[in-house]
Amino acid sequence: MRTERSGPTSWSAELQAFLTEARNAVGRELQQWSARAEREIGGRVGEAVAYSLAASGKRLRPALVLAAYRELGGAGDAAELAAAVEIVHTYSLVHDDLPCMDDDDLRRGRPTTHRAFDVATATEVGIRLVPLSARVLAAGAAKLGLPGASLGAIAAELYGAAGAAGMVGGQVLDLEAEGRALDLEALTRVHAAKTGALITASVVIGGLAAGGHGEQIAALRGFGQEIGLAFQIVDDVLDATATSSELGKTAGKDAAQHKATFAGLLGVQAARRVAAAHMQRAIDLLRGSGVNWSLLPGLAQLIVERRA
Ligand code: IPE
Ligand code: IPE
Ligand code: MG
Ligand code: MG
Ligand code: MG
Repeated sequence: MRTERSGPTSWSAELQAFLTEARNAVGRELQQWSARAEREIGGRVGEAVAYSLAASGKRLRPALVLAAYRELGGAGDAAELAAAVEIVHTYSLVHDDLPCMDDDDLRRGRPTTHRAFDVATATEVGIRLVPLSARVLAAGAAKLGLPGASLGAIAAELYGAAGAAGMVGGQVLDLEAEGRALDLEALTRVHAAKTGALITASVVIGGLAAGGHGEQIAALRGFGQEIGLAFQIVDDVLDATATSSELGKTAGKDAAQHKATFAGLLGVQAARRVAAAHMQRAIDLLRGSGVNWSLLPGLAQLIVERRA
């Protein structure tokens, strides 16, 4: 275990406390916005929006926003800003599970939105979540008193990462790769886009909200790219090694659907080693940027050592 500041025991306790606080604060924001969206949208779609937001995930992306914000000296309440990123992520999961994509029945320990409701409703839920995230982002920026230019940069970061050059484009590449043998370079591109982009945006957004300067934002971006890749490699490994009840989603689906994955291409052990190498590079990238990082190195480690 490595850290910039203190030994493993103390930073683990610090990280644990931070994660609990982050989860609670972001949970409160999501709950409020979910209730509001349910009221405004109404009917079955409103209910399904609330259903998709209520499911409890790891809340990794908002934790990254809040960690980066705090590491760069942010002292305000950034939970609402962080919740906006989680809403974009939730939209990606609802659509990822649709029959036209990965066709999954289980998500976050419950039936997927299209299973609990129906495909048309779940499709609309995903679409509705995107403008909702923009409202939450704007409200979160206002709460922090950020100037318009900062909100502009943050929004460009988030929706750039979510779009064709990032998550949406990566999801297209992922589907096109089904049943095909990709080499390491091509597979890395898919994972960096479909998953790495939003994770990178999470840390960059936290840094921008805190008023981080160019070199700090560059360090965060490099860090985010490495841990984003590591995160999806570990997701591939867990799909092949964990159980559905551990994951809260159907295990073993990647092989069944002939997905291009790191576990499939390299084998589980080598894939784990590649993920660990990306984690180490991520931590190394933070060094030398003049910041006393205390949360992000631990989060990088948690990403590769997680069991679900
Ligand atoms: C799942 O993300 C989708 C991927 C990008 C691999 P998470 O593993 O973060 O899912 P939740 O939010 O914890 O449910
Ligand atoms: C999904 O990757 C990436 C997204 C952008 C949602 P996966 O398809 O591997 O995610 P899981 O395993 O279903 O959570
Ligand atoms: Mg997928
Ligand atoms: Mg999937
Ligand atoms: Mg997966």
